[in-house]
Amino acid sequence: MCGIIGYVGEQSALDVTLGGLRRLEYRGYDSAGIAVVGAGALRVVRRAGKLSNLEKALAETDDGAVVGEAMAGTTGMGHTRWATHGGPTDTNAHPHTDCTGAIAVIHNGVIENFTALRSELFGAGHELASETDTEVVAHLLEAELGRPGAGELAALAAAEGGDGGRHPLTEAVRRVCQRLSGSFTLVVLHRDFPDVVVGARRNSPLVVGLGAGETFLASDVAAFIAHTRQALEIGQDQIVEARRDGVRIIDFAGEPVEGRPYHVDWDASAAEKGGYPYFMLKEISEQPAVLADTLRGRLSSDGAIVLDEERLSGEDFRDIDKVFIVACGTAYHAGLIAKYAIEHWTRLPCEVEMASEFRYRDPVLDRSTLVVAISQSGETLDTLMAVKHAREQKARVLAICNTNGSTIPRESDAVLYTRCGPEVGVAATKTFLGQVAACLLVGLFLAQARGILYGDEVGAYVEKLQRMPDLVARTLGTVGPVRELARSLAGARTVLFLGRHVGYPVALEGALKLKELAYMHAEGFPAGELKHGPIALVEQGVPVVVVVPSPRGRAVLHDKVVSNIQEVRARGARTIVIAEEGDHLVEPFADHLIRVPATPSLFAPLVTTIPLQVFACELALARGLDVDQPRNLAKSVTVE
Ligand code: F6R
Repeated sequence: MCGIIGYVGEQSALDVTLGGLRRLEYRGYDSAGIAVVGAGALRVVRRAGKLSNLEKALAETDDGAVVGEAMAGTTGMGHTRWATHGGPTDTNAHPHTDCTGAIAVIHNGVIENFTALRSELFGAGHELASETDTEVVAHLLEAELGRPGAGELAALAAAEGGDGGRHPLTEAVRRVCQRLSGSFTLVVLHRDFPDVVVGARRNSPLVVGLGAGETFLASDVAAFIAHTRQALEIGQDQIVEARRDGVRIIDFAGEPVEGRPYHVDWDASAAEKGGYPYFMLKEISEQPAVLADTLRGRLSSDGAIVLDEERLSGEDFRDIDKVFIVACGTAYHAGLIAKYAIEHWTRLPCEVEMASEFRYRDPVLDRSTLVVAISQSGETLDTLMAVKHAREQKARVLAICNTNGSTIPRESDAVLYTRCGPEVGVAATKTFLGQVAACLLVGLFLAQARGILYGDEVGAYVEKLQRMPDLVARTLGTVGPVRELARSLAGARTVLFLGRHVGYPVALEGALKLKELAYMHAEGFPAGELKHGPIALVEQGVPVVVVVPSPRGRAVLHDKVVSNIQEVRARGARTIVIAEEGDHLVEPFADHLIRVPATPSLFAPLVTTIPLQVFACELALARGLDVDQPRNLAKSVTVE
């Protein structure tokens, strides 16, 4: 949510920041802006709407000069916005400046006490132009740097560039951060300090990219991956002073701290469309490879499931008597699937909860509770806050995450990375499959740690899981008719999705994908619940997608779903049935039959989800919509 890039180096800051914003646009696309410091000036250009509007503005001429060409300088920053405070207008677009136009600020997050700060600033004679919470920071910095009697800052300013003194801009940022509540990543430039960019973070992402003679600050590594793969994690409540030759990091109390260096294990091509017209199509097609990567090397030579980071002992895991899963959106659906596997394999009670609700209802947690936090980005604030709450209550936290260096894994006791590579399409696809596979591994891990499954039993499950990438590839090879069907339904008003057992979360996910991509009314229900109310929605011609469980699993469940299909069909529904190859019992009741390969019951979501992703994507395209950047959404939701 909001993409941020800061740059200090030897290249054109405009080119570098624009390139970074192109890779960050999936984080928000309500407006975009850039600031560059050079030749004694701070220049800012910002526009409402997508990045292309900013690019157009930079190509325009003003006073006979091309706007972008006047932005010469090798220090700069850029922002792509997902609006929180104030609508998506030019005035509310970042960067925001102070009264003197010397300081520019970009921000991701929400400054919760901005109303009080705004009144204080108005009282002191500052003029604030926007409706944003962010603008107060520029004016607070102005007040700090220009405060009468700020002798300390003046002395520090004299030492600017020297090794000993803390940079005055850094010190001012530190003091301002102490006054802010809420969540924020800030990046700050000052006209008079062209060699430094300062960043700060609290509960919102910020990573450093370390290049040769250049340094980057960004919301995620995608922003600088074309320039360097050397990154540095910045902890909570820390400030980073970036210069060409590296960084200095302090905490909000002013104490020096070290960042954790890491190497990004994917390159710029992973974040390109690779010949596909949309990232989403590319990401759907990558799923066999992604699943194989998630599963690779998970079984040690002695038959134990391997997590990526484990700061808990075997005894800690054995002592667990209850599992909570917290996540949002698509990740929550992966969690619902995990519940079936975890309860079945471990015999531990497992509750799945939307992270945004979790901490507010005061859940019963203690040191024998395991909280599994699932998050692609590792930065979703609702999930992060649930993790923090769990840890305050002494619960253990295991994170399932796709993003190395992100906050949720750092705040957790154990981590399993999904290794899906960057997901640029705003709607989650490949990372959902990675999350489901990771959840299954966590279930096996816990069953093994608790002595419920033996090594050879776990090994047998893992072997079956490792056959899944081939089955996913086979499923992708047969979705052509799904595309045709989706196009034929472009005019539908509503689509219902039904499922049972692990097919129920798949139905929820199918409905979510359709809502967010095609802007259609879609709802997922447990098939058995239909008769308790939702069946009233069924009328002549309403498409109803039914995810049918395997007849080889629990035959009773299969037969009940077949009855549910008949119930909706009898009321005029157009039935779209997703069923296992060889399941002939469904044939008479399916207006459209989509086949998926046979799998063990708990693994079925790894194949049944695929046609639903393709269905939503194709239907949205048939309605002329942008499937990579659906309206009102952003990839990483860093506000509560
Ligand atoms: C839907 C989607 C969202 C995310 C949710 C959680 O396609 O992408 O519902 O799943 O915002 O995001 P993460 O997994 O980053 O915590």
